[in-house]
Amino acid sequence: MNIVLGVSGGIAAYKAVMVVRLLVEAGHDVQVVPTDDALRFVGKPTWEAISRHPVTTSVHENVAEVRHVALGQRADLVVVAPATANTLARMAAGIADSLLGTTLLATQAPVLVAPAMHTQMWQHPATQANVATLRARSVEFIGPDDGRLTGADSGPGRMSEPDQIAARAMEILARRTVKRDLMGVTLLVSAGGTREPIDPVRFIGNRSSGRQGVAIAAAAAARGAEVVLLAASIEEAILAEVVGCPEVRIERVWTAAELQNAADREAPGADVIVMAAAVSDYRVAEMRETKMRKEETAGTQLTLALIENPDILAGLVRSRRPGQLIVGFAAETAENQQALLELGRQKLARKGADLLAVNAVGWSQGFESAENTLYVLAAGGELVSTAGGSKREAADGLLDAIVPRLSRRVLSTAE
Ligand code: CTP
Repeated sequence: MNIVLGVSGGIAAYKAVMVVRLLVEAGHDVQVVPTDDALRFVGKPTWEAISRHPVTTSVHENVAEVRHVALGQRADLVVVAPATANTLARMAAGIADSLLGTTLLATQAPVLVAPAMHTQMWQHPATQANVATLRARSVEFIGPDDGRLTGADSGPGRMSEPDQIAARAMEILARRTVKRDLMGVTLLVSAGGTREPIDPVRFIGNRSSGRQGVAIAAAAAARGAEVVLLAASIEEAILAEVVGCPEVRIERVWTAAELQNAADREAPGADVIVMAAAVSDYRVAEMRETKMRKEETAGTQLTLALIENPDILAGLVRSRRPGQLIVGFAAETAENQQALLELGRQKLARKGADLLAVNAVGWSQGFESAENTLYVLAAGGELVSTAGGSKREAADGLLDAIVPRLSRRVLSTAE
């Protein structure tokens, strides 16, 4: 696909070199359009070598090709990384006195912006107003992240990492090519592991990373769904895949009780519910208001009394409205696939969901990995699909199993 990468003048321009490289390696055609200022940070030869294309900044070069509009018209996506406060202001005002400016005005492609600037500049009302203007025009933002800036200072303003920018760019491109078979559908998905506090500094948690649930949210949004993501404990870098996506509303929760409240509140508006979160089955019977100290129990065995959490999925199934499709997850340790599916069938029968996505987990399987295989069981226990590959591919495979099971009412609104 054709990508234009606009680069403005900031130190983070050197990180944009890696963005180009990742996009080119993924098979995309990348035209770099630096501003004159950007060339003070990284010179033309670097951009030309890495993008394998000649690079110009001026609207007066190669006039015969009408380059000042051609680049924008041809583009499937325009990425601006880094975007300085000045560039954001120019974009918001529609200023076209550079090749990047004309390209941005001439394009109908989606635009992704990765801001980079000092915290004060980012937080300035003028910059925030420009960001709001651009967002209202459907420009997507990634970052800025919170972290070390150019000087000794740190705070929000640091450009997102190149791999995250490249991943988001490819996600936007994928959205342009994928089927839009979830238009008009509202999908509620929970993701990540819940945390049950023991005292103000400790909790009981689990190894779920939230990757699979976030991938389902991203894939459903790409296919046209309105997504509500109930995000339990998930690293920011994983959640970044959907932060800023206009189709995904994210609600943070920590405990099973918070997840249950949020799920009960959001469920009535959902056509599809996917419970991908790893919910703690138990919580501490008496949470301590102050930190537990070792002296209290030194030399003895410490016993934590736990009480059962409600089964959120089973509750959602009990109060489901007609036509609502409910999907559960089961992460199981099993000897082989047959045993895995048997555990899944038992769980499906207990929970009463319409579909159950079963995956194998173990000490070295399932959690941190970017790959997954989901065995999708239908209510009668039959295996209806095996969706494997990256967690995004597994997510799309699960959605492929969901779509034909959506009620006619939901699909007719989608058409
Ligand atoms: N789940 C839930 N509420 C709970 C526990 C689980 O909604 N308190 C949901 C999970 O989000 C998942 C499904 O139920 O979709 C299966 O979760 P799992 O922990 O495997 O099921 P359990 O019923 O807890 O069974 P197990 O004895 O295997 O832990």
